[in-house]
Amino acid sequence: MPETKTAVVTGASRGIGHAVAQRFRDQGWRVITVSRQPPPDRCPWSDGGNTHISLDLSDLKQIMHTVEQLRPLLSGAKLHALINNAGISPKGPGGSRINSLTTDIDVWQSMYNTNFYAPLVLTRGFAQELSNARGAVVNLCSIAGHRVHPFAGSAYATSKSALGALTREMANDMAPLGVRVNAIAPGEIDTDILSPGTSRIVENDIPMRRLGTVHEVADLIEFLCSDKASYITGAEIPIDGGQTV
Ligand SMILES: NC(=O)c1ccc[n+]([C@@H]2O[C@H](COP(=O)([O-])OP(=O)(O)OC[C@H]3O[C@@H](n4cnc5c(N)ncnc54)[C@H](OP(=O)(O)O)[C@@H]3O)[C@@H](O)[C@H]2O)c1
Repeated sequence: MPETKTAVVTGASRGIGHAVAQRFRDQGWRVITVSRQPPPDRCPWSDGGNTHISLDLSDLKQIMHTVEQLRPLLSGAKLHALINNAGISPKGPGGSRINSLTTDIDVWQSMYNTNFYAPLVLTRGFAQELSNARGAVVNLCSIAGHRVHPFAGSAYATSKSALGALTREMANDMAPLGVRVNAIAPGEIDTDILSPGTSRIVENDIPMRRLGTVHEVADLIEFLCSDKASYITGAEIPIDGGQTV
C-alpha cells in the first residue's frame, strides 16, 4: 500500500493556501493547516483539531510553540511538504501604500513575525521530519521583494526579500539532509490580499493582461513538492504573467 504523504500548509483558511491544501488533499495527502481561523466547514480536510491548529503567527511566542503543537500530528514522524504560505500585507487609509518613513515599528515587527520568522522557525523546527521524508519546503515570496510595488508596502517588500534570501540559505543548509527548499514569487493573484487599484496594473503592467488564479499557483507548488522537481533547490520562481519581464 502506498505511503500517505503529509503536508503542513500555513494560511489555508482562504486564498492561495486554501487552494494548495485542497490540491494536496485531492492527491491523497494528509493536510495539516495553521492559521488564525480554521478552513471553512465545507472543506473536506477540516476535521476539527485533528488537522487544523489555530495560531496567530504574528505573535512570536505563539510561533515558538507551533512546532511542538504540530509535531504529535505527524504520524510516522515524516513531513513530505511544508508550505510557508501565511502572509500579511497591511495597507494605510483607503488601501494606500505604507512606506519606510512613517510605518509604525510595531507593524514591521508583527509582519516580520508572520512573513519571515514563522517560516524560519517552522522549517528548522521540522528539519528532522522533513529529512525523514526527503521532503520539500516552499516559501511564498513576492515580486514586491525585488522592486518597489505601487500597493505593497515597504515592510511587506523587505520581509519577502528577506524570505527569498532565507530560502537560499536554508536550501544550502538542508541539502545534506535531503530536503529541498524553494520559493515562488507571485505577481497579482486573484485573492483578498489584492488592493482596489490592481485593475490598473493588469491593464498597464502585465503582458498577459489578467490576474493569476490560485489554481495556477497550486500547480507550481505541487510541482516543486514532486519528484519532477528533484534537482531544483534554492530557486525563487516568478509566477506573474510576465509582470517582471
Ligand atoms: N495574492 C497575491 O497576489 C500574492 C502576491 C504575492 C505574494 N503573495 C503571498 O502569498 C501568500 C498567500 O497570499 P493570499 O493572496 O492567499 O492571501 P490571503 O487571501 O489574504 O490569505 C492569507 C492567509 O494567511 C493567513 N494569515 C495571515 N495572517 C496570519 C497570522 N497572523 N497567523 C496565521 N495565519 C495568518 C490567513 O489566515 P487567517 O486570517 O485565518 O489567520 C490566510 O489564510 C502570502 O504570503 C502573500 O504574501 C500573494
